Amino acid sequence: MPAFLAYAPQGADKGIAMAFFGKDELGKQTELRKENLPRHVAIIMDGNGRWAQRRGMPRTFGHKAGVEALREIIRHSSDLGIEALTIYAFSTENWKRSVEEVGALMGLLLEYFTKELEELHREHVRIRILGDIDAMPKGLERQQAALHAAMARTRENTGLQLNIALNYGGRQEIVWAARKLAKRVAAGELSPEEISMDVFAGELYTSGLPEVDLIIRTSGEMRLSNFLLYQCAYAEFYKTDILWPDFDQKAYDEALLSYAKRNRRFGGV
Ligand code: IPE
Ligand code: IPE
Ligand code: MG
Repeated sequence: MPAFLAYAPQGADKGIAMAFFGKDELGKQTELRKENLPRHVAIIMDGNGRWAQRRGMPRTFGHKAGVEALREIIRHSSDLGIEALTIYAFSTENWKRSVEEVGALMGLLLEYFTKELEELHREHVRIRILGDIDAMPKGLERQQAALHAAMARTRENTGLQLNIALNYGGRQEIVWAARKLAKRVAAGELSPEEISMDVFAGELYTSGLPEVDLIIRTSGEMRLSNFLLYQCAYAEFYKTDILWPDFDQKAYDEALLSYAKRNRRFGGV
């Protein structure tokens, strides 16, 4: 290490070393190779409303455009061979929005699942809904049935694991896991000492999926908004100012490239 770096922050020498590799070497190191890809990507698709407002259109216009962006991102994830993609479609807090907006969003989801289901199935995509879909307000029975049908139809698929967080809340998920474990203890099936991190994670919606490696949020916001609180403990965070309807394959590749360059330490050195 050059003497002038003796007092530099840890890791600064690595930056210098990278610079010495030259452009090509650096490019080779960071291209989107399979081994550099995240196994599990989570996306907070945000900014649909602002995207529409900037065009003088109602918020629902933005949600419609958002579904198109989602279609492209799902396809690209599947093509790249990413194992799991979890997208935040509707939070337990999103019920605070107007009846019109909620209705439009649910309608779009129903349309998406009925129109795309066969194609996703052909691509071997497995669909899972994370969230409390059975506790939706009355009038959404068709949506509920479509979601259950999509899960049942694709259950055996071994391609991209596509998880749609719908009526999802991270705190609720954790509290419910605790409740389910408490019931198992009360029933004598499990002793409190047997509750390990693995056992706990087994009661979450994401049971059986790999840890989240990369979490992406669009529209410049920098908060988790109650998304995958347990699963993102060591996820790499990526934010972009791009609004969700404009988030395309190129923007996604940039996020994946940024991830490929990260140095994940998990508390080590
Ligand atoms: C994200 O876009 C989509 C959902 C929450 C379903 P928003 O609707 O939150 O758009 P902004 O953040 O208001 O622009
Ligand atoms: C998070 O976005 C939820 C979804 C993307 C579905 P919000 O727009 O609801 O989050 P806040 O209100 O800005 O935190
Ligand atoms: Mg928002």
